[in-house]
Amino acid sequence: MKKFYITTPIYYINDIPHIGHGYNIVACDTLARYYQAKGKDVFFMTGVDEHGAKIAEAAKANGLEPQDFVDGLVPKFKEAWKSLNINYSAFFRTTDPKHEEEVQSVVKRLQQKGYIEKREYEGLYCVGCERFYKEDELKDGLCPDHLKAPVLHSEENYFFLLSRFARDILEKIESGELEVAPKARKNEIVGKIKQGLEDISVSRAGVSWGIPFPGDDKQTIYVWVDALLNYYTAEKVFDSSDLWPADLHVVGKDIIWFHAIIWPAILLALDLPLPKKIYAHGFFTVNGQKMSKTLGNILDPKELVKEYGADPVRYYLLSAFPFGEDGDVSLESLRSSYQKLSNDIGNLLQRTLSMINKYGIEVKGVIEKNSDDSIDIDKEMSELDFMNALRKITGFCEEQNKYIAKSEPWVLAKEGKNKELAEVLTTVYKNLYRIANSLEPFMPDTALKMKTQLKSLNPEPIFPRIDLR
Ligand code: MSP
Repeated sequence: MKKFYITTPIYYINDIPHIGHGYNIVACDTLARYYQAKGKDVFFMTGVDEHGAKIAEAAKANGLEPQDFVDGLVPKFKEAWKSLNINYSAFFRTTDPKHEEEVQSVVKRLQQKGYIEKREYEGLYCVGCERFYKEDELKDGLCPDHLKAPVLHSEENYFFLLSRFARDILEKIESGELEVAPKARKNEIVGKIKQGLEDISVSRAGVSWGIPFPGDDKQTIYVWVDALLNYYTAEKVFDSSDLWPADLHVVGKDIIWFHAIIWPAILLALDLPLPKKIYAHGFFTVNGQKMSKTLGNILDPKELVKEYGADPVRYYLLSAFPFGEDGDVSLESLRSSYQKLSNDIGNLLQRTLSMINKYGIEVKGVIEKNSDDSIDIDKEMSELDFMNALRKITGFCEEQNKYIAKSEPWVLAKEGKNKELAEVLTTVYKNLYRIANSLEPFMPDTALKMKTQLKSLNPEPIFPRIDLR
């Protein structure tokens, strides 16, 4: 049976895994867990992008062969994702020989179909981005991403005839057959296609750390073609014939061009089905500034998790601002988010269990009867609107807290109104289980702790007071 196939981008292996990548992968992990709980056979893939001039340079600077260099970097990613409790189905590496072989065979197919041409090309090239820029894409003559002047570079390259697919892609995106979301990103892409697409160079001369271009040992396959194909070659790499097409690619808005234009064009050229949906999330700044090595403000997921725990970090990332938009994060707001979790959810659980114990309320069998109950967040999740999904859940917690305050179980107990007392506490008890079920994809450990305590009736703080420096 076809798997429900969700992907993150494959991250540049010479980046330190930071909270920007964490943002992306936490979202995918949450979706994967959510759909799994709905009974889908989810295949959730992440991985690393390991080829290109930059990586070869970094390996050299470290006195290592590129392969040894990248091998040494993989554990950093795996550890970071482990600390965030990411439960991926497979970890992709572009240096996997099966991937390399398949990428070559795909390029050969493109050649055979007449979609590749050799041409002389001269242009402004940014090594940082590993791509050519047009004059009007530069910012004061500099690469908008790296703020460095691109170099004039001329070479004979193989070109993929992207322009031929403009009309087809436009039609598929406009009709929704290929869903590009959110709306702002869809409009951006539609606008770009309407301006016209140029053919793109898909080989590099002088970049030896890459997959050899079929039939030309002086050129390697452009890293982005190599990287995008990961989503498709995964079937071969993981020996799973039931993946493609992907149901969802979650990417950052910086790489939507590659995913919503180049990738579909390659697939159309190959007569392969297109992914169902591409969602581009926003970018965040830290305390109003772009995260950068130079500014030294890169947030390390492992450090944050050490201090706050994986679940509060996951919760914070997905609730701080709308997923499709840009936003800002800071340690200060992470702390208040932690506090809110503790006040809303932690306290509700503690006080409810304490009262159940104190007043000897019989709750046996309640959970069994309602074990699948959860808050309906289907619409929000289908739109990747994590913030509002979480607001619904925490809003429901607040309602429970208010219900307790209004019903005053302690007064009911004093007045001997045992039936009402049991009803109030049983209702909240049952709803706590619903809350735990709903929170599970977002905060798997917390949900488990809640459920364990609801069963044992043994309250323990789930968000312990932390020393807030
Ligand atoms: N290797 C390519 C992807 C190839 S996929 C076929 C790449 N890698 S990356 O490591 O630079 O970026 C991976 C993802 O992290 C991107 O989707 C990017 O948007 C995301 N983020 C990096 N910094 C981020 C923020 N500050 N905020 C939100 N997302 C960020 O691009």
